[in-house]
Amino acid sequence: MADPDTSKATARDSALAVIKEEHRMLGSVMHTLQQVVQEMFTHRIEADHALIACMLYYIDVFPELCHHPKEDEYLFRSLRERTSSADALLDELQAQHVRSAQMTGYLQQLFVHYLGGAPDGLRHFADAVESYAMFLWDHMEREEQRVLPLAEKYLQQSDWQAIDAAFRANKDPLGGADVQQEFRRLKQRITNLLPRKLKPHGGKE
Ligand SMILES: [Fe+2]
Ligand SMILES: [Fe+2]
Repeated sequence: MADPDTSKATARDSALAVIKEEHRMLGSVMHTLQQVVQEMFTHRIEADHALIACMLYYIDVFPELCHHPKEDEYLFRSLRERTSSADALLDELQAQHVRSAQMTGYLQQLFVHYLGGAPDGLRHFADAVESYAMFLWDHMEREEQRVLPLAEKYLQQSDWQAIDAAFRANKDPLGGADVQQEFRRLKQRITNLLPRKLKPHGGKE
């Protein structure tokens, strides 16, 4: 029979790895969007609207579809059941999940506004991209620096198994597609569309 401590560590390590990998993927697209918009703003590169549209779609839909619901429904819920010491922090982070969707919607509006030729449209869009990036980095840092250590302290083996299973089940509840695979393809498309100077080495993830 499997050693329960080993099983707990395996499920925990697996769940933590996938949560951090999702943060890394999202952070990578966010960072690239910042770079591209900054380059556009200083007129050093031509605006590639398809590239920006892909990145805006990614930073809007990936958290909404893949990441935040699993945090809310599995990680945060389990932690609330095991301790009340994280309640205030989790309330704040869950409010940020709602705010995040509002902010990415606003970013898309500002992008359309810029495309429509609004005076100062690019500046307003660039400012909003920076604001959202700060918000997102702060959010993910608080999760990694504060929530995950509390989860490691309080959660039990059954909690980690449920969280790991949820984060690794990448099926779209509506269409049955492998959502994670779709987002990997989208991220590769973003990489392919990047101007040469911003491409990672070899153009691969
Ligand atoms: Fe979150
Ligand atoms: Fe997160």
